[in-house]
Amino acid sequence: MDMVLSPQNARRRFLQRFLRLVGGVSFFPTLVASLPTSSSIMANTHDTILDTMNNMVGVDAGAEILASDGLGVLAAAKNMFYGAATAAERLRVDAAYNSAITRECNIIVPEYEMKWDKLRPSPTVFNFTDADYLVNFARQNKILFRGHTLCWHRALPTWFASTVNASNAAQYLTNHIQTVVGRYKGQIHSWDVVNEAIEPTDKKPNNLRNSSWYKFLGENYLELAFNTAAQADPKAMLVYNDYGVEYNDPARRDGILTLLQRLKAKNVPIHALGIQGHLTYKDFATVDTSGFRTFLRDVASLGLKIFITEFDCDDTTLPTDNQQRDTGVAKVYGDYAAIVFNELAVQGFITWGLTDKYSSINSTAPRSDGQQQRPLPLDAALERKMAWYSLEFWFKQTAKRPATTLVEQAQETIAFLECFPNPATDRVNIRFRCEQAMELRIGIVDLQGREIVHIASGAFERGEHTLAWELADGDAASGMYVCTLVGTLNGASVQRSQHILVTR
Ligand code: G3I
Repeated sequence: MDMVLSPQNARRRFLQRFLRLVGGVSFFPTLVASLPTSSSIMANTHDTILDTMNNMVGVDAGAEILASDGLGVLAAAKNMFYGAATAAERLRVDAAYNSAITRECNIIVPEYEMKWDKLRPSPTVFNFTDADYLVNFARQNKILFRGHTLCWHRALPTWFASTVNASNAAQYLTNHIQTVVGRYKGQIHSWDVVNEAIEPTDKKPNNLRNSSWYKFLGENYLELAFNTAAQADPKAMLVYNDYGVEYNDPARRDGILTLLQRLKAKNVPIHALGIQGHLTYKDFATVDTSGFRTFLRDVASLGLKIFITEFDCDDTTLPTDNQQRDTGVAKVYGDYAAIVFNELAVQGFITWGLTDKYSSINSTAPRSDGQQQRPLPLDAALERKMAWYSLEFWFKQTAKRPATTLVEQAQETIAFLECFPNPATDRVNIRFRCEQAMELRIGIVDLQGREIVHIASGAFERGEHTLAWELADGDAASGMYVCTLVGTLNGASVQRSQHILVTR
């Protein structure tokens, strides 16, 4: 039967075909972490997508795509996560929003319900009503859950200042972490253990922020917090979360990097850096792409994963017109994603809210024209905006991450895997700990997933093991590699991997 397409349907079909094309054809090398990237190609391609989507605005762009997978499904296909900050009350009262969260997210994080001021109405009372609701909501909907945040200089209860002091701060901090982390043990993908500990303008040693925690306990409060969290929930990934690393601010980047190095050197249990990513359209022009990329690689070379944890884009300086604002915001999303998705250590992307309807920056950065901000992937009517398509594009383009990274099931059986390149000896030391005896194959794979060196195979006893990758033997070039431990235990597969940056 001949079908006559209306102009709207023709344009919609064109958009669908176009999106299928950009999703299916590799414009960029999919595994580009170790290769120089052409930002001009990316910018051009991205602009083309934006132009195409722009043309569709007003003709129910994406109407048929609404039936397609949410970002969480696309992310999971790459062993990554996409999610949003949410709030219990919104999920309870707003059914459409509730289903948008379940459609789009494979991880959620509470915007405020797990902070001290919401959990602790008095020094001796904890109120878990909203936090419990959120954790249960996530479990019922098979959505991963991030806890945020155990130790921060803000969002402290009013009683804190008159109650907590240098002599009892350690006790308050450990008791808080034991109580909160212990309550949700085994149900949390990752905890933001410490948030925003670096502030160079405070002029303290190591660029540490002069927070109450620092004043009471000195720098050691960080390791106290991480060690306590690890004891309370050994399966949760433990994250240090901070902001501002996108810009040419060497003191801030260096402060964060050396903090991570100090924690790693002391064997403090820390698994990832969270980069908040609260951006403004105006400041995005000053992002120092190459310095940011170097910073991401420096963090990855410490054996840490990287999460983008609170992304949004303040559109204050863009004109009132929605289309212009959405285009500008989507460009920031796409250009930012072009940087971070190319780094394989980046495991996921979380926006600070899903829809403009509930964006917190409407109160912190109101527009002078009185319009609502449009910083998030869905508009206030829960329709997908161009920013959503920017993320869709990059989740489709990016390389698949190793299988264990979504939920670290292997943490149960392989307590840790660390790889330390030592250029002086031309060797990478590989350390890991088996919690049970198991059969393992240990190898080095390149970014295409091909094993280039077989390190060892066989039975490994419970306990710590140290092996070495002798770089000279295989003549490996400088670049990014992945050490993988693959095996079986009681019929289930066990896999753990660690990126290694080799410089020779
Ligand atoms: O829910 C109560 C409401 O019942 C009450 O009537 C009202 C009166 O003040 O307060 C409401 O709670 C507020 C909550 O936002 C919801 O609006 C809290 O007081 C307020 O402190 C809270 O602000 C949050 C802020 O962190 C402090 O916790 C923002 O929503 C949240 O977006 C913001 O998130 C931070 C991240 O945690 C760390 N990175 C920066 C980011 C943005 O500032």
